[in-house]
Amino acid sequence: MDVNNLRQSLAEAGQSHVLQYLDELSESQRSHLLEEVQSLDFTELNGFFRRAMDGFSASSSQDKVDARMEAVPREVLGSATRDRELLPEWEAQGFTQIADGKVAVLLLAGGQGTRLGVSYPKGMYDVGLPSHKSLFQIQAERILKLQRLAKERHGKDCIIPWYIMTSGRTMESTHDYFQKHHYFGLEKENLILFQQGMLPAMSFEGKVLLEEKGKLSMAPDGNGGLYRALGAHGVLKDMEKRGIEYIHVYCVDNILVKVADPVFIGFCVSKEADCGAKVVEKMNPTEPVGVVCRVDGVYQVVEYSEITLATAQKRSADGRLMYNAGNIANHFFTREFLQQVVEVHEPQLQHHVAVKKIPYMDTQGSLTHPEKPNGIKMEKFVFDIFQFAKKFVVFEVLREEEFSPLKNADSQNGKDNPSTARHALLSLHHCWVLNAGGHFVDENGTHLPAIPLMQEAGDVPIQCEISPLVSYAGEGLEHYVKNKELHAPLTIDEHGIHQSVRNGL
Ligand code: UD1
Repeated sequence: MDVNNLRQSLAEAGQSHVLQYLDELSESQRSHLLEEVQSLDFTELNGFFRRAMDGFSASSSQDKVDARMEAVPREVLGSATRDRELLPEWEAQGFTQIADGKVAVLLLAGGQGTRLGVSYPKGMYDVGLPSHKSLFQIQAERILKLQRLAKERHGKDCIIPWYIMTSGRTMESTHDYFQKHHYFGLEKENLILFQQGMLPAMSFEGKVLLEEKGKLSMAPDGNGGLYRALGAHGVLKDMEKRGIEYIHVYCVDNILVKVADPVFIGFCVSKEADCGAKVVEKMNPTEPVGVVCRVDGVYQVVEYSEITLATAQKRSADGRLMYNAGNIANHFFTREFLQQVVEVHEPQLQHHVAVKKIPYMDTQGSLTHPEKPNGIKMEKFVFDIFQFAKKFVVFEVLREEEFSPLKNADSQNGKDNPSTARHALLSLHHCWVLNAGGHFVDENGTHLPAIPLMQEAGDVPIQCEISPLVSYAGEGLEHYVKNKELHAPLTIDEHGIHQSVRNGL
């Protein structure tokens, strides 16, 4: 490696300081730093910085976005409640595509889980279910179950390949975790891990920040780093080779996620959409979810931090929030659309700016922990490409059936934490049992209220967990529970039904 050449190109880009401590480093630190620096294109990076900051200044005047926003029009909206009679048709369509091997799922798992406060990938987290399954295991088993359901309907084997985007920080542990658990029953070759890019944090003046004397302060380039990574790692080519046409993209943290949901896929395919988003009704103006809407006539997600409270509080004539299409980070894309995004649109997308307090090595060689924000991280978002869709659709689903994200640690606050995620899943499974004709009774044989407890009440839910290998969305439970008196804790898995030993079957 020619250090002089490297110094020269850094000087041209105004980033010479990154090698300031080179002579103080050990041999291995030195080669690590040089490798890191060489892998970056600093001219490109400066361009990212300038465009991101320009966009950031332009959008800082909040009134402008607020004034340009429009709610999702009725004609692009499908609903799991209002369109109930169409659901079987959409589901059948989705299953046909799955059985034909045209559907893949793609998991965004490159985040750092900072708010949850764990050092390992969030997908490995155990929220404390009776089975102690991790988020990854739950998702893997839902995929397996769907493959089986599609086979039952169509009489042929099928595969739903699972693409998992990791980052420099999560790749190795994610890989080792799946290997150790034998891919949770999936075929190894149908689980494809690839890595998103990383970008350095920058000062407000556009200087790359050092985390240590021999290390740049690097972070993943946002979940919209997906599009660059798709091209860089030949993922779309792999999809094409496998005959994939439709892709369900989702985030790792939602314990209720319906991976490759046939209804959602069928809805989008029936509408001939190239891009779709699943939403839940945003109930509360301050709920921290982005909303799907149009800005200047173009579809996008406006994050909760980007609008004023007054806009978030606006209500329609029926009393519902005007901007109520809460983004649950479940997206549908055709492969053709993604191909176009990668080839044409991705380079045009500018990074969003996250202003942060970033610890850095100062020019005197001491590590400084700033008290005020001192720089930015640059990220692209997965939904930045909605604007390029020819036909965009939105599918509204029920929160209690499909959305309970794990964002925070239990101690932080009462929302979106391991307890609420566990509670949401147990309550949903309790509903499934009730709907399949089962009843829970207490130790005296008295019927318990046939309604799951409200999460907000802080009550302990009935311990009722059903393996995804038994039921994907509540189907097929009658022969286990119909007209039976059941005792919690109850689990149903591929070995059968298990309940409180006192009253076990
Ligand atoms: C995300 C959505 C938000 C939505 C909310 C619902 C984005 C940008 N925002 O917000 O609109 O209302 O979920 O829960 O999608 N990730 C990567 N690489 C990265 C950064 C993140 O793969 O560089 C992945 C994470 O692993 C996670 C997902 O993206 O699976 C969401 O990231 P997170 O930062 O938690 O997004 P939110 O702010 O919660």
